Amino acid sequence: MTIARELAETIIDPKAYSLRDPVDNAFRAIRANQPLDKAELDGFEPFWVVSRHADIKEIERQPDLFHNGDKSTFLTNIEGNERVKALTGGDPNMIRSLVSLDGAEHKALRSIVFPHVTPRAIRPLEEAIRGIAREFVDHMLSFDGQVDFAQDVAFLYPLRVIMTVLGVPQEDEAFMLKLTQELFNNADPELNRARAELSPEDMLKSLWETTMELESYFKAVTERFRANPTEQVNSLIANARIGGDYLNHRQLMGYYIIAATAGHDTTSNTTAGAMWALAQQPHLLRQMQDDPGAINAFVEESIRWEVPVKHFMRSAVADCEVGGQQIRAGDWLMLSYQSANRDEAVWADPFAFRIDRDANPQIAFGYGVHVCLGQHLARMEMRILWEELFKRLKSVEMNGAGERTISNFVCGPKHVPIRFTVN
Ligand code: HEM
Repeated sequence: MTIARELAETIIDPKAYSLRDPVDNAFRAIRANQPLDKAELDGFEPFWVVSRHADIKEIERQPDLFHNGDKSTFLTNIEGNERVKALTGGDPNMIRSLVSLDGAEHKALRSIVFPHVTPRAIRPLEEAIRGIAREFVDHMLSFDGQVDFAQDVAFLYPLRVIMTVLGVPQEDEAFMLKLTQELFNNADPELNRARAELSPEDMLKSLWETTMELESYFKAVTERFRANPTEQVNSLIANARIGGDYLNHRQLMGYYIIAATAGHDTTSNTTAGAMWALAQQPHLLRQMQDDPGAINAFVEESIRWEVPVKHFMRSAVADCEVGGQQIRAGDWLMLSYQSANRDEAVWADPFAFRIDRDANPQIAFGYGVHVCLGQHLARMEMRILWEELFKRLKSVEMNGAGERTISNFVCGPKHVPIRFTVN
């Protein structure tokens, strides 16, 4: 038996993600009745929906058996897949970044940046990031008691942090933000390239145009950093060599693009979602002011709560069994981080935002060899922002309805209107 059509349609519907409850309810039913089963939808290759925390870990633990790059790493319909292959000359992924690589190539590319983003390696950045956090806290407080926290703080602070780490000048930040939003929010008329409802064909066209615009920007970056190398991440990428050769064009572009886009949008979504949760439970502010150590639990819970990356896809290399189901070679699987982070088998009370959990093994950064490269940076920059802000904030509450982006891939709150007072 396959997953009921109504449930399967909901868990891929960008509008349902913008409301969130319909998706959470659909996954609750899926976890209870068919935790690993097939979705068959018109226009899509059938795919397995992997909804449980344990099954996602089991799959991500076996990267040789479940590949990232053999098919699209995010859900796309059959027509879209064919168009992408035509545009790229056969690659099912428009952008060849770490998340769409496997085996030795993935390992070689990941190890270029990995040593520079471990907890120890990023510790020296703490003071610079604190300086940026203070700037954005001042900026927020200049709004005089009312602000759209998503637009005016959460979208901007992680952008400044990652651009500093990468070596992108401040004057290019607005450009990077715009292109990132176009890339991830194609279904949202407020944020996509055309600022309009797009047909599937136009969505793909605009994705391609955005990718080409990013590529032409990053071509100049390669030239700049090869002429004048620095310690910044874009320079490491530009100057890295594998077997004596520089990365090829698709490898270079994929690397720059994932670092520059995934490096802030995800963290912005989490930051905005955390403020939304706080504004709905203002007593948490006092709790964290009395015990600043609780900020770490707040950060971890906000990552679990927001789950900015809703899914990634894998494809099976050989026949195998997972979660009691017989998977065939070539089958496509959706790893739903949204669902796994609500798994009743892992969390008591998964639909509540709580900072007093004994353990919080959230899996919103993924798991295994592809686990988020920026996880420690993301945690650190969010902790610092909250430390700086909570010192100065006296109260906070919602000031109208929040709003989420229309997307089924990387997304989160786009408007979080709050009212606040300061000490
Ligand atoms: C709260 C913030 C973030 C979340 C929730 C998040 C989530 C994720 C997820 C789910 C994956 C895929 C993991 C898997 O397949 O198992 C991933 C991969 C990745 N993330 Fe993040 N991310 C965040 C922040 C960042 C930041 C700040 C950076 C940049 C410094 C970054 C860079 C990357 C890269 C390069 C990959 C690909 C890793 C690979 O495939 O080897 N992310 N992230």
